[in-house]
Amino acid sequence: MTARERVARVQDVRRRLAADGPPWTRPHERDFETVSMPERDCDLVRDLLIAEGVETVVEVGLAYGSSALAIGEALAALDPPDPQHVVVDPFQETAYSNVGWALMREAGLDSATRLVVEPSSTALPRLLTEGLVADAAFVDGSHRFHEVFVDLYFLRKLVRPGGLIIMDDVWTPSVRTAVRYYERNLGWTAIPDAFAAGSAWPIDGAPVIRCAAFRLPDDLTEPPFEAFHPF
Ligand SMILES: C[S@@+](CC[C@H](N)C(=O)[O-])C[C@H]1O[C@@H](n2cnc3c(N)ncnc32)[C@H](O)[C@@H]1O
Repeated sequence: MTARERVARVQDVRRRLAADGPPWTRPHERDFETVSMPERDCDLVRDLLIAEGVETVVEVGLAYGSSALAIGEALAALDPPDPQHVVVDPFQETAYSNVGWALMREAGLDSATRLVVEPSSTALPRLLTEGLVADAAFVDGSHRFHEVFVDLYFLRKLVRPGGLIIMDDVWTPSVRTAVRYYERNLGWTAIPDAFAAGSAWPIDGAPVIRCAAFRLPDDLTEPPFEAFHPF
C-alpha cells in the first residue's frame, strides 16, 4: 500500500467517525461529542504535526480516537522511516470498550502505534527511562490540575528540545494554570494563532480558544529555584 493509500484509509475512518460517531459509546448523553475533539481542531493538530515533520509523537488520552486518528494521519502523510505514536490511556478497555483502539486498527494505524494502558503519571516516566525521544506531544488526558502538571513535567523531558506540545482544553482553569507554570518559568512559548481557526467559546464575553500549541526552548538548563515566577 502506498503512503497516499494509507492516508486515504485513515481519512475514511476519520470521516465516518465524525459523521456517524463511534459504533459504541458509554451510556452518557452526547458522550462522543462531549469527550472528543471536534474534527476541525483535529485537522489543525494534524496540520501542525505535518508542518513540524514529526516522526515520534506521544499522546495522552485516547477515548474514541478522534485526535489519535488525526495524529496517525499526520504520520501516514509524512511517511518517515520509523513512525512512532505512543498513546497512553488507562481506561481504554474499562471505560471505552477499546473502541478508540479498534478504530486505530481499522485505519491501519496499529502497527505504528503503541497503546499504553496505564495512567500517564506512571507511563510517562517509564517511557523516559526506556529512552523514548519524541518530536511532539498531544495532551488530552486527565484534566485535574496536578495530573496535567505531572504530564507536562515528564513531557518536557520526553519531547526533544525545540519540540512541540499541543494541548486540548486550555480554556479550563486547571489545564490553563498548569501550562502557565511552564510558560512563566521554563521558557515555553505559545505559537500564536496555531488554533485561531479552531473551536472557541465566549467566556466573560470574549472568545477563548480550545487548544494551544507550545514550543519548548532549545536549552533545557534547569533554572535556579530563586528565579521562580508565581503563575
Ligand atoms: C477528553 S478524553 C480524550 C479525547 C481524545 N483526545 C479525542 O479527541 O477523542 C480524555 C481521555 O483521557 C483519559 N484519561 C483519564 N485519566 C487519565 C490518566 N491519568 N492518564 C492518561 N489518560 C487518562 C480518559 O480515559 C479519556 O480517554
